[in-house]
Amino acid sequence: MTVAALASQDILKPHLEIDGGEKLSGELRVSGAKNSALVLMTASLLTEDPLTLRNVPPLTDIGGMTEILSSLGVKVQRSGEVVRLHADQMTGAEPPYELVNGLRASFFAIGPLLARMGHARVPLPGGCRIGARPVVEHIRGLKALGAVVNVEHGIIAASIPGREQRLKGAEIVLDCPSVGATETILMAAALARGTSVISNAAQEPEVQDLANLLIAMGANISGAGGPTITVEGVDQLKGCDYMVIPDRIEAGTFLLAAAITRSKLRVAPVIPEHLSAVLQKLRDCGCKLDIDQEGITITPGEIRGIDITTQPFPGFPTDLQAPFMALLATAQGTSVITEKIYENRMQHVAELQRMGASIRVQSNTAVVEGVSALSGAPVNGTDLRASAAMVLAALVATGKSQVSGLDHLDRGYADIEAKLGRVGAKLIRRTP
Ligand code: EPZ
Repeated sequence: MTVAALASQDILKPHLEIDGGEKLSGELRVSGAKNSALVLMTASLLTEDPLTLRNVPPLTDIGGMTEILSSLGVKVQRSGEVVRLHADQMTGAEPPYELVNGLRASFFAIGPLLARMGHARVPLPGGCRIGARPVVEHIRGLKALGAVVNVEHGIIAASIPGREQRLKGAEIVLDCPSVGATETILMAAALARGTSVISNAAQEPEVQDLANLLIAMGANISGAGGPTITVEGVDQLKGCDYMVIPDRIEAGTFLLAAAITRSKLRVAPVIPEHLSAVLQKLRDCGCKLDIDQEGITITPGEIRGIDITTQPFPGFPTDLQAPFMALLATAQGTSVITEKIYENRMQHVAELQRMGASIRVQSNTAVVEGVSALSGAPVNGTDLRASAAMVLAALVATGKSQVSGLDHLDRGYADIEAKLGRVGAKLIRRTP
């Protein structure tokens, strides 16, 4: 297919039309964390009391999770960034296949569903573009807590044998520090009889946020945020009113928007320790960062090439690999970017090349030769963070770009064109 034909295809899809080259100024506001809010919503299954979550980002994924929980009988009310959930009259323990299939975080509901109902049937979330994304660790953890778990026609069927229908505390050593597995096990163990110890646990801020919510609901948890989490099971949990942490990945994406357009910008709210590895790399490549009580002011200097390897938290986050690559495509010198978390998270390279980036990929390592200018083009965001990378590249490319793949983008970035427009970016959403 010719480039023109490809271009016309992209332009026919809903896209952001972006005029590159604008300097930005002002402050970019960060919404609540998608990868926390989604899991916190599933924790509503653990209690018959009402649960209120604040600072919930208005994203399509939140809508998806609302549908899934409602299908189980949970009453969900959304008003702006407040979500009220009440699971006092559950009607089932099997969310519909078509709803779960597109939303990985919904699989994590299997933990609280099992703990609350004594059984659960949840479709396998399946893989996606960035990798196979197995749920072996989630299943191993539930089995260690005493559940019987089988895979039947793409459905994970879990149940608790015995009359009491209650999970039992256990020692669990994860083969890999899976975020979702840690969260699934944490929610299941919160209501188990006895003590559970999760070793090699994920340390991401979203895991800590979930633990803090569960503690506010009456759970007895220590060590969250570190590699070993101890949970003393309790008989029941109560409702509470809880504020979701700011989205560190959106914050990082906005800091990169400042860096790639060589603009001084403030990004807030940000919890700096949630982004330590990213802030270090921004400094290493030539940005000055002023951290204040609530946010970060970034002043880019001359951007130089650096090396990045993605790792579990507190290492460099895989979710900012693609957005950071967009910046380094415009740096002076060479960068080597290695993706260690997912087996297939380099789809954005081909799209950046369409804009003139000079990148060579060898399995999961990209060698990026910075170029003096990217040129606007019709490009496609192949997954959530790749689409963010394309928006960043388009902000600095000469001429117009059309960034399609908005169904991905809208899953993780609320009102991105309004937010970027407010600081001077020239972009408009076109839905042909
Ligand atoms: C969470 O996914 C995030 N999603 C992802 O963000 C993020 O990239 C990921 O954590 C890593 O930080 C949500 O929280 C909803 P994992 P999760 O289980 O929990 C392997 C975004 O862009 N693995 O920690 O699914 C797996 O294959 C999304 O916002 C196993 O090998 O991630 C992957 O390579 C993308 N066996 C790695 O671990 C298992 O049993 C990380 O997976 C489980 C995972």
